[in-house]
Amino acid sequence: MIPKILIIGAGGQIGSELTQKLRSIYPANNVIASDISYNNIELVNSGIFEIVDAQDFSSVKICVEKYQINTIYLMAAMLSATGEKFPRKAWELNMESLFHVLDLAKEGFIKKVFWPSSIAVFGPTTPKENTPQCTIMEPATVYGITKEVGEHWCEYYHKQYGVDIRSLRYPGIISWKTMPGGGTTDYAVEIYHKAIAEKKYECFLSEDTELPMMFMDDAIKATIAIMDAKPEDIKVKSSYNISAVSFTPKQIAKSIQKYIPEFTISYNPDFRQKIADSWPKCIDDTRAREDWGWKHSFSLDDITREMLTNLKAKVKQPV
Ligand code: SER
Repeated sequence: MIPKILIIGAGGQIGSELTQKLRSIYPANNVIASDISYNNIELVNSGIFEIVDAQDFSSVKICVEKYQINTIYLMAAMLSATGEKFPRKAWELNMESLFHVLDLAKEGFIKKVFWPSSIAVFGPTTPKENTPQCTIMEPATVYGITKEVGEHWCEYYHKQYGVDIRSLRYPGIISWKTMPGGGTTDYAVEIYHKAIAEKKYECFLSEDTELPMMFMDDAIKATIAIMDAKPEDIKVKSSYNISAVSFTPKQIAKSIQKYIPEFTISYNPDFRQKIADSWPKCIDDTRAREDWGWKHSFSLDDITREMLTNLKAKVKQPV
């Protein structure tokens, strides 16, 4: 099957880089980016772009039919911190968009779906070190609830209707091209911007809060790899644990100081501390490594080097 791809939520942190990667792999007419606004100008100008409201079934279906889409990457979601401010909205966006895509797959329009889950499916009762693939999941955030429930629905649609849906439990994703929005792991991107602009950063998490993180290139690599894997290799039908690195705010600050020795960090934990405290410190991703060959490339110091080099170059570029 030659993929005819629709990315929903292509203007977001992961969606925008995923779209560019897919556009580098497939012919231009095979990759359709979509979002609810034209805000991401670079994305809009770099190929076919459509306005699609992920919560509106007919909006998604019209686009699917117009371009004879057979593969969807559903990247639209409200993340953990914003979700705590707008719980019902987070529930509606995250669940309705998933049902629309699952139903289009059930009806035979779509042959393959990517839907991201998150470390947020885990909660305070989950083992925090090397969190296993199958374990206690009692999420403490609305975002985590939507992701856990979504995983069950993905598995159900696979079992009942044969829907080919693939999913990863993303950790915090660090990138220099696009800012994250509304997540608890966002500090690990903000810190690099502030390190360059102000040489100091006030962190909204405490110094020893360890969380699983990943560089964007690794996240995109994992996403493409799971979508390219043979169906028989995808043995986990809910969502795969994947991991790369785990670190604390204190450790990321130390890594930055190797490049910017005068950089300082201070700590002023807010409501996001409680969310972070409910999540694992590090994840066991043996199943992803065994089933479809997942392997990360970027260490914390690699991430720091990439972030600082690219952000500095971006600042210097004339607008
Ligand atoms: N990055 C997400 C968040 O912080 C976790 O998947 O909400």
